[in-house]
Amino acid sequence: MRRQVYKRINRRLQELELPSVAAYRAYLEDNPGEWPALDTLCQIGISRFYRDRSVFEHLEHETLPHLAQRLLSRGENELHCWSAGCAGGEEPYTLAIIWRQRLESRFLTLRLRIVATDINSQAIHRAERGCYRASSVKELPLEWRNQAFTTIADELYLKDEYRATVTFAVLDIRKQLPDGPFHLILCRNLVFTYFDDEYQRKTMEGISSRLAPDGALVIGKPESLPDGPWGIEPWSTGLGVYRKTPDANGDRFILPVAGKGS
Ligand SMILES: C[S@@+](CC[C@H](N)C(=O)[O-])C[C@H]1O[C@@H](n2cnc3c(N)ncnc32)[C@H](O)[C@@H]1O
Repeated sequence: MRRQVYKRINRRLQELELPSVAAYRAYLEDNPGEWPALDTLCQIGISRFYRDRSVFEHLEHETLPHLAQRLLSRGENELHCWSAGCAGGEEPYTLAIIWRQRLESRFLTLRLRIVATDINSQAIHRAERGCYRASSVKELPLEWRNQAFTTIADELYLKDEYRATVTFAVLDIRKQLPDGPFHLILCRNLVFTYFDDEYQRKTMEGISSRLAPDGALVIGKPESLPDGPWGIEPWSTGLGVYRKTPDANGDRFILPVAGKGS
């Protein structure tokens, strides 16, 4: 993904007829108006439904059932998620599809509510439309795809009942985060790939303060978290799935996996 950024910057150097990155740095000093252009160059919007299948399998079989069971045991009826850097909606809608097709019938009194945010207003507009090319959904299991979409010509339209689960907003995560708390936060292939250490830490402070006491955080599979007192531990090695560590009383969700006896 970083390669995409390098490519874009190289193209920009050619447009400006600059010989090197050092020359571009000097150009930025002399032309502060270029900073927003550079910022846009760094916003890579690549995504697809069911991206990193093993992560979504973990969410389906472990994370979401645990969270759901925990909430029901406390008499709560809403599971709140945030998809940060949601691109065209592929990630939050994948969550909505998994919930509706695999979990909803097991947790009938619980509603899934997803807030999905991105800096790019065009991406958010696409997400709200819920219309995709076949290439975006090709990794989604065929049965789920057939149930969730209506195909018209060569476009796939996500059905209303899935779209209704997700609320979209344009938001720069460096400046503003949605109100929590969230039981599940997905922040994949954005902060921990593109931001420098300082912004990673700053954003992570915001994320951890919005994570519910027994919440889960998912980052990109190849990403890692900056060092810090985040109070979370890996849920599953190599998937980028974390959960809040137990407090001093060991109070966390030590519950049977849903589906094996729930
Ligand atoms: C590579 S995509 C990741 C999409 C999705 N999370 C996934 O993993 O498939 C990164 C997204 O982050 C968005 N983004 C970049 N900078 C951002 C910022 N400062 N605040 C919010 N979103 C941002 C981009 O517009 C893009 O849609």
